Amino acid sequence: MTFLLWTIGLLFAVITTNAQSAGTWCDASTPVAMCFQRYSDAASGVGWGYAFPTTPGDDFIGFWTAPVAVGWVGASLGGSMKSNLLLAAWTNDANATVSPRFTTVYAPPAVYSGPIITILSSSGVNDTHQRIVFHCANCTSWGASSIPQSGSTTFGYVLHGTSKPVDPADADTVIQKHTASGKFTIDISAARSDQYPLYLQYLLNPATPLPPSIPPPTIPPISSSPSPTSIPLTTVLQRV
Ligand SMILES: *[C@@H]1O[C@H](CO)[C@@H](O)[C@H](O)[C@H]1NC(C)=O
Ligand SMILES: *[C@@H]1O[C@H](CO)[C@@H](O)[C@H](O)[C@H]1NC(C)=O
Ligand SMILES: *[C@@H]1O[C@H](CO)[C@@H](O)[C@H](O)[C@H]1NC(C)=O
Repeated sequence: MTFLLWTIGLLFAVITTNAQSAGTWCDASTPVAMCFQRYSDAASGVGWGYAFPTTPGDDFIGFWTAPVAVGWVGASLGGSMKSNLLLAAWTNDANATVSPRFTTVYAPPAVYSGPIITILSSSGVNDTHQRIVFHCANCTSWGASSIPQSGSTTFGYVLHGTSKPVDPADADTVIQKHTASGKFTIDISAARSDQYPLYLQYLLNPATPLPPSIPPPTIPPISSSPSPTSIPLTTVLQRV
């Protein structure tokens, strides 16, 4: 068990310095065309997508996909293992799990409390893929570090090609040694979407009909009142 825990430590430690970039990617499978800044690892077919609200808060939506055979996938929200918020995720049949982890030394990352994870709809498995869609609140800062509110930053990624965590029904379970890791740059400004409240509304409750023709929330000029057709962001948020 200790050995297994050590291996997750090592996997974050050996993240390479050969950084690549996330790009814009939109999911076409839902009624709401949701766009993310996403990095896709060609070798494994795993993709890590992120969307942030226009007004910097403490949350984001993660949209991760992996072939069914992949055991688990993970991320470092600061790029490297040490002193950064780490997320490990996997599916257990229809259920998806995201487990926050943290370590200040090159040692087994412990389960970390603080992040408020909500697994969102469309998560689960189909014939070919796992899909882990989640809202991560209180997730943009940790300890002395944070995700910058704008511009480019580095995220790390990890995955195990075949092995599920020891007890996939338990978010605190031991996670086995990775088989791949790396990091990429992501433009947080580009990952911010004024459609974010709508994404969240849909993903929290896809059965609720969406407004028939919801226009993108507009930011009115300071000197004029909002146009009658614009939906103030606060209204959309209240629906969530
Ligand atoms: C998935 O979650 C539901 C609800 O918590 C639970 O009843 C079910 O047993 C879980 N399935 C697996 C495979 O863990
Ligand atoms: C947010 O997370 C931090 C750890 O990063 C934790 O100390 C804090 O209690 C959390 N805040 C809330 C409101 O859960
Ligand atoms: C299975 O899920 C993946 C990932 O979300 C998606 O790209 C693919 O279209 C889905 N396949 C089917 C048949 O719906």
